[in-house]
Amino acid sequence: MQIPEHQVEEIRANTDIVDLISGYVQLRKRGRNYIGLCPFHNEKTPSFTVSPDKQIYHCFGCHAGGNAYKFLMEYKNISFVESVQELAENLGIKLEENSAPNTEEKSEFEELYEINVIAAKYFSNNLLKSDGGKIAREYFKNRKIKSTTNTTFGLGYALPEWDKLLHHLTESKVNLQKAKDIGLIDTRDNGTFYDKYRGRTIFPIFSPNGRVIGFGGRVMNKEEKTAKYINSPESKIYSKRKTLYGLYHSKEEIRRLDRAILVEGYMDVISLFQNGVKNVVASSGTALTEEQVLLLSRFTKNIVVNFDADLAGQKAATRSIEVLLKNGFDVKLISLPNGEDPDSYINNFGTEEFNKQVENAKDFLEFQTEQFSNSGAFDDSKKSAEAIRELVKYVALIEDELKRNILIKTISKKFNLREKLLEKELDNVLELNEKNETKSKVRIEKKNTTNISLLQNETDSNASFQFEKELIKLMLESSEEIIENVLDYIHPDDFKNKTFNTIASTVEKCYHKGGIATSQIIEEISDESVKTVALSLALGDEIISDKWNKKKDDEDKIKLNHLQKAKDLVRKFRISLIDSQIKANNHQIVVEENEEAIMELMRENKELTLQRKMIMDGEGNSDLI
Ligand code: GTP
Ligand code: MN
Repeated sequence: MQIPEHQVEEIRANTDIVDLISGYVQLRKRGRNYIGLCPFHNEKTPSFTVSPDKQIYHCFGCHAGGNAYKFLMEYKNISFVESVQELAENLGIKLEENSAPNTEEKSEFEELYEINVIAAKYFSNNLLKSDGGKIAREYFKNRKIKSTTNTTFGLGYALPEWDKLLHHLTESKVNLQKAKDIGLIDTRDNGTFYDKYRGRTIFPIFSPNGRVIGFGGRVMNKEEKTAKYINSPESKIYSKRKTLYGLYHSKEEIRRLDRAILVEGYMDVISLFQNGVKNVVASSGTALTEEQVLLLSRFTKNIVVNFDADLAGQKAATRSIEVLLKNGFDVKLISLPNGEDPDSYINNFGTEEFNKQVENAKDFLEFQTEQFSNSGAFDDSKKSAEAIRELVKYVALIEDELKRNILIKTISKKFNLREKLLEKELDNVLELNEKNETKSKVRIEKKNTTNISLLQNETDSNASFQFEKELIKLMLESSEEIIENVLDYIHPDDFKNKTFNTIASTVEKCYHKGGIATSQIIEEISDESVKTVALSLALGDEIISDKWNKKKDDEDKIKLNHLQKAKDLVRKFRISLIDSQIKANNHQIVVEENEEAIMELMRENKELTLQRKMIMDGEGNSDLI
C-alpha cells in the first residue's frame, strides 16, 4: 500500500507526540520537555525525553529516537505504513489508497514482508495440498497436530529439491537478492541461487501484528546429520532478540488472563494452543532477552516459565528469571517430570493436568532453592552460605520493597536464619547494585559526550567545531527565519565537520521541500549515528536547563534572541570562511611562480578583505559573495 506523501505529512502534523507517547509511557513535565523511563531499555532514572515543540523523542541512555511514526514502529514492532495507518485512525483521517501500487516506491520493509507472504503461502500449499507434502501431513498427524492448527499457525512444508521455492519466487517476479537477504534462498560460489529450506516442516514467525517476519524449518527426521532447526537470519524485518514466537496468536489471551506461559519451542506453543492453553509464547530455545521481556510487559507482568527439564533448559530458566525480576515481573516456574516438554506433557496427560501444573507453579525462590539443592549446594555450610547469598541477590533485583521484605522473611524461615542477618546481606547487595548503576550511568553519560566530541575530526579546530555545532542546533529549531538566514549565506558543504555537513544538507533539502519541522528533518537522515547526534543536539540543552521553563510571552523573546544569535553566528562563520580563503591564497602566493596568477590572487584577497569589512560592519550583502 502506498500512502500519498501529503497525507503522511498531514497526519504527522496533526499528531501530538506527547499525547501519543503518554499512552504507553508515564511522562512528567520537566522544563519545556517531558521525561520518563525509556520503554526501549531498562532504566531506573529517566533519560527518555519527549519534546512537544519539536515533536520528537530521544533517549539519552540507549539513543532510541525519532518522530511519532518511529515511536510506534519501534514500540509495536510494526512497519512505517502500519504506523501511519494507526495514527490516521486515531485522528479519523481516511487514507487515500493508491489503487495502482507503485512497486518502485514501495518501502523496502513492505517488499520484504510481501516476499515472506509469497513464501509462506507456497510452503503452506505444499503441506496442505501437494503430492510431495504427504510425508509432512503424516508427520504432523503423528505429532497430533490437527489440520485446523496447521492453518492457524500457517505451518508449511519445504519440498526436498534445491530449487522449488526459487522457481516459485522467480515466477512471482520477486527480487531474488532481497529473498536472499531474508534467508529464503542463498547463493553458491558460482553465483547461482538455491533454496535454504529443503525437506523441512516450516513454522512461519509472526510479528505481534501478524506479519510474517521469518521462518523456522525443522528436519523431518531427527537422525539426520544437520541442524534440527534452521531459522531466518537477522534482517531488516527480523530480530530474534525482539521476537516472541506465538505472541500474535496469544496476546489477547495473555491480556485476558493477565498471565503468560513461556516455553522453549515452536511445537510447545502450537500444542498448548491447540489444547486450549492459549496464553503461551516461546523464546525459541534461549534465555529471555531484555527486549523480549519489554515486549511481553505490554501485555502482562505475570509469567510462568516452563522450560525443558534438561540442563540447558534449566540454565536458560535461571537467566530468564534475572531479566524478568529486574523488569518487575512476577515469576513462577513449572518443572515437568524428566523427559517431558510442554508439548509431550499436554499430549500425554491432557489439558487439565497441564493447568494443574500451572496453578501449582513454584515461585522463583522455591525453584531456585531446588536448583541449588539438586546441585548439592546445601551439602556443606560453606556452599550453603554461597547459595543463600545468591538467593538474596535475586531478591535484590526486585524493585518493590514490600515484596523484597516478604521474600527475605521466606528465606529466613526456610533456612532458619535470623532475618536481621539476611537484611544486612540484602542491604550490601543493594548498595553494590546502586554503585554499579551509578557507574554505568556515568559511563553512559560519558559515552554521550564522547559521542559528540568523537565527531570532532582532527582537522576541525575546537573553535570551528563549537561554532558549527551551535549553528546546527539553531537550524534544528524549526524556525524558517533562522534556516533562511543560514542557508542564504552558508552552503552545507562549508561545514567542515562531516556529520554537521550531512545535517545541514538535510535541513536544506527539507527546506526546499517545504517542511522544516525537526521531526521531519530527523526522519530524512538515514545514517543512524548522524541521526543520534541530530536528536541530541535538538533536545540537548533543554533537559538540563530550567531556564526554558518560561511564560508564554517570553517565548517570542527567546525566538528573537535565537534569530539574533543565528545572524551573529552566520556573520562569524562567513568571516572565518573568508579568513581561511585569504590564508590559503597567501600560501599560494608564496609558492606560485606565475606573475599573472600572483596578481590575480592578490586582487582576490583585496576583494575578500573588503567583503570582510562589510560583514563586520553589518552590511553584508549576499550579492557580493
Ligand atoms: P520438537 O523437537 O519438534 O518438539 O521441537 P521443539 O520446538 O520442541 O524444539 P526443541 O525443544 O528441541 O528446541 C526448542 C527451540 O529451540 C526450537 O523451537 C527452536 O526455536 C530452537 N532450536 C532447536 N534446535 C535448534 C537448532 O538446531 N538450531 C537453531 N537455530 N535453533 C534450534
Ligand atoms: Mn519438543
